Amino acid sequence: MSEVADFKPGLEGVVAVETEIAEPDREGGALRSRGVDIEELVGHVPYEKVWGLLVDESLEPGMPEPDPYEPPSLTGNAPADAQAEIARLSGVWSLGKVTEISDEQARDDLGRLSAQVMSIVARSARVADGHEDSVSDDVVSGGKTAAERFLLRWRGEADPRHVTAIDTYWICTAEHGLNASTFTARVAASTGADAGAAMSAAIGTLSGPLHGGAPAHVIPMIDEVAAMGDAAGYVDDLLSRGDRIMGFGHRVYRAEDPRARLLARTAEELGSPRVETARALESAALVALQARHPDRVLATNVEYWAAIVLDVADIPAKLTPAMFACARVAGWSAHELEQKRVARLIRPAARYIGPGPRSLSDLR
Ligand code: COA
Repeated sequence: MSEVADFKPGLEGVVAVETEIAEPDREGGALRSRGVDIEELVGHVPYEKVWGLLVDESLEPGMPEPDPYEPPSLTGNAPADAQAEIARLSGVWSLGKVTEISDEQARDDLGRLSAQVMSIVARSARVADGHEDSVSDDVVSGGKTAAERFLLRWRGEADPRHVTAIDTYWICTAEHGLNASTFTARVAASTGADAGAAMSAAIGTLSGPLHGGAPAHVIPMIDEVAAMGDAAGYVDDLLSRGDRIMGFGHRVYRAEDPRARLLARTAEELGSPRVETARALESAALVALQARHPDRVLATNVEYWAAIVLDVADIPAKLTPAMFACARVAGWSAHELEQKRVARLIRPAARYIGPGPRSLSDLR
């Protein structure tokens, strides 16, 4: 009875798990990781320590450096490469099923996989850039942070502004409760799947534009507004066609998305040339969305300003879902471990609304 009465399309507002990992403060526009506001983390500790905070509830030792591993074949499509390679590593490393191994072993598996996602994405981006060689481990290990090593592995060099942009983006998007990819990771972990299978499943959810992919659509919007010189006109055209403005609206926040605020500040501090147009488009979008949906808060979300910050680091639009995967390995890992401890299969119900009983002969 309750399952039928409680049905919500998209499960909006349905509490599916309890978590101690991160707390998006819906009304207050804050995001806390294990109780610590992300405002306190950005610029003070690098991403790999935030991974430690989320996964181990301790900054130390943080995410490990990747094992030496040369993926056999990469296509240059980074999310697809990461999804395939992380699933393959389950076999290469003979990872145990999460229900059959200790919490410590599962945590170590997740640490190795997380570090490897970054390495695979960097290598895949290098392939996409047309390089056939890889950067030597000696050059990469000269980097002081995971973001710096990521850029070194990709480009062989790491501009400090680019490092700051990526580190800030990764920290802001490291974890955010139960979105599509994290739910997927938890569902897989709840079956006892190994950590690689669960992480690979989570990466698969990022191929659509509604989760992790919005930044790829933001820069083209900003370029069009810059060319037109009329942000309000652009927004009106887009909404009258029934399209969505990418980077606006959020399932959780009924106030400002704190990550958008932080990333907007970073974009300004790093001197992005797109800030002025981005501000104009943001203002026009907020006015138009408020006018069309007066009962709903449709504010700027993380992905709008993430696009501008990632653009500072010359991240091509098509790489943005993979950049999100690199960031979210912390959240996925923490949630897979939390689900392991819950030790309960996630198996919701479906309400059947199809045809009533009938005979095969009715279909002939
Ligand atoms: N642009 C235009 N209209 C939007 C909108 C946007 N970005 N976001 C929501 N709306 C409108 C919808 O069209 C819908 O209108 P309707 O009731 O007239 O059909 C209404 O607001 C509610 O939308 P809904 O899809 O139910 O909201 P949601 O809370 O389920 O969706 C998102 C959340 C993020 C999926 C949604 O806001 C969206 O698609 N945003 C753009 C993609 C994006 O930025 N994704 C990154 C999220 S971090």
